[in-house]
Amino acid sequence: MAQYPPVMRDLPAFLYGGDYNPEQWIREKDTVWKKDMELARRAGINTLSVGIFSWSMLEPREGEYRFEWLDEVMDMLAENGMKAVLATPSGARPPWMAEKYPEVLRVDGYRRRQLFGNRHNHCLSSPVYREKVRAINTLLAERYKDHPALGMWHVSNELGGECHCPLCQEKFRVWLKDRYGEIENLNDQWWNTFWSHRYSSFGQVESPSPIGEGCSHGLKLAWRRFVSDQFCEWYRWETEPLRRITPHIPCTTNLMEIFWDINYFDLGKLLDRVSWDNYPRWTNDDRDAEVAAYTAFNHDLMRGAGGGKPFMMMESSPSAVNWQEVNRLRSPGLLMLQGMQAVAHGSDTVQYFQFRKGRGSCEKFHGAVVSHDEREDNRVYREVCRVGERLKTLGDIPGSAPENRAAVLFDWDNRWILRDAQFGLNPDKGYEQTVIAHHGAMLRCGIGVDVIDQTSDLTGYRLVSGPMTYMLRPGFAEKVRAFVEAGGVYVSTYCSGWVNEEDLCFMGGFPGPLKDVLGVWDEETDALDETQRNHFTWQGKRYETKDFCALIHPEGAKALSEYEDCFYRGYPVLTENTFGKGKAYYIAARTGMDFLTDFYQTAIRQAGIAPLIPDLPRGFLCAERAGNKGRFLFVMNTVPRENTVCLPDCRDAETGDTVKGKTVFAPYEVKILRV
Ligand code: GLA
Ligand code: ZN
Repeated sequence: MAQYPPVMRDLPAFLYGGDYNPEQWIREKDTVWKKDMELARRAGINTLSVGIFSWSMLEPREGEYRFEWLDEVMDMLAENGMKAVLATPSGARPPWMAEKYPEVLRVDGYRRRQLFGNRHNHCLSSPVYREKVRAINTLLAERYKDHPALGMWHVSNELGGECHCPLCQEKFRVWLKDRYGEIENLNDQWWNTFWSHRYSSFGQVESPSPIGEGCSHGLKLAWRRFVSDQFCEWYRWETEPLRRITPHIPCTTNLMEIFWDINYFDLGKLLDRVSWDNYPRWTNDDRDAEVAAYTAFNHDLMRGAGGGKPFMMMESSPSAVNWQEVNRLRSPGLLMLQGMQAVAHGSDTVQYFQFRKGRGSCEKFHGAVVSHDEREDNRVYREVCRVGERLKTLGDIPGSAPENRAAVLFDWDNRWILRDAQFGLNPDKGYEQTVIAHHGAMLRCGIGVDVIDQTSDLTGYRLVSGPMTYMLRPGFAEKVRAFVEAGGVYVSTYCSGWVNEEDLCFMGGFPGPLKDVLGVWDEETDALDETQRNHFTWQGKRYETKDFCALIHPEGAKALSEYEDCFYRGYPVLTENTFGKGKAYYIAARTGMDFLTDFYQTAIRQAGIAPLIPDLPRGFLCAERAGNKGRFLFVMNTVPRENTVCLPDCRDAETGDTVKGKTVFAPYEVKILRV
């Protein structure tokens, strides 16, 4: 049973709070700041993230630093018993820097230098930008290293994007030389004889561009890997002075769900705690069951990126956000569900964006703890208080973590490579949705699921699912083989085992090196349009297939069901292969949730995993955390209507009451049970 140290040394309980920009109210600080502290305290808030976009207030002119206001903020937090998640300001730079040093501005794919504006708009290769960031980070660390409010570093904000300037091109070429050694090797790996693409020197390689190279999959994949590596290198570089001057203070940067630009399994390894920004598109109707399942996937992904440790929900909205197409309010109980769901999956924090709404610019109507009315008797503030009160009573939970025996693979390199591949259905093959569907089907069976990638260790799991594992990294097939041989259950699907890590196809038939463990040969793959379906019957129930149908031949595996239509009627659609002590399944076609849920019931049983709650009714989700203070089972009604579930015999962790059998949950109600 794992028990992890608290997020911050001297704040062992849950962190509760959010992004706070007091500098936007500097002219009214005597009234506004004072009021903020009262409202924060009364809501149970113990942490505020400050300084996130403060550069132009900290260094209004080059070399002219103004830390006095931040000193006051830090003192004020300490006086009110709160901790600061203190940000480095590199998420947005001040106008003077762009004016004096245009090299800090990003260049887009069309090779156009951007103007000053927005945020996240800087070139990571620019020596000037690096020098400026290093200087201000060093000053911040020196100034606050012994400050009692300093709890954690929040490095930059939501790292992302890319720059195509000459400096970045040079860095890309160095990265390529490092990976491929010789240009001839790069040419071979990228299949550059195609369309006369053989380079004679690294100097000829340019990043992908809408006015240049857009077809070389080798190049595009290398660029994605380079951009992601550049952010990891940047994070290490930004934190260097923080780690040196304040080695006792943990560092993080806030991630964004299934974000495209960065391989979070790589970046996550560098963070003391993974933190992320959770903005579900809640609908306030029955579809919230799907929204909650999608959110659960993201929580599990973030925990996975951090190697299984508890993580931090760094941002979430206390009410409607303002940038989604439809920005629904949080109907009663939903804010509690949003916070408790994060905790259920391993978050040791509930943080909001934002603490107080600004008066101007583009986020003034984004949900906040303190609204423009500045009142305590409004609905949102009262709900925020309720969440704060509840967290205070859950002090045994932080530091514990889920102990799951099932995992689903979500691999960034596979994502990048599959998006470019041209076959079947273009442009989007639906990799992300497919992984999320498999994860969701397992959740619906009432088990906890980890999200891992191909570099993860499989030992310890009993069931591993790798939907659409099109690309196999070196050594991954061997890992799967050892896992199944030792008794594990592995699930594979269509579009698996086609290419190696450089996007070169496996010769000798798909699924390449997975052929023996899966016991099938995947000969061809058919694509269906939205109107077309095939069918199959399994265990007496008839199901539909859609989108992708692979035409496979068992080579060792046993066919469990066959296609019923089209010229491949009679070909297997589901196979089972016994390999060593384990089993490997191959699902040859894309199906609906009905089949996936039924299938995983069987696979889970086969793997010997006991559900946390058997026969979980629709609309419910559950998750468990275990630590040295006990095991906590979270049962969540994710829909805005009463819903009934049969609970195991145990005690309610909050009321101490015994619970047992059929129990009615209120809309969005979450119960936490001690098991
Ligand atoms: C992101 C950012 C915040 C804020 C919110 C709004 O997550 O990190 O600064 O813009 O979005 O939802
Ligand atoms: Zn650049």
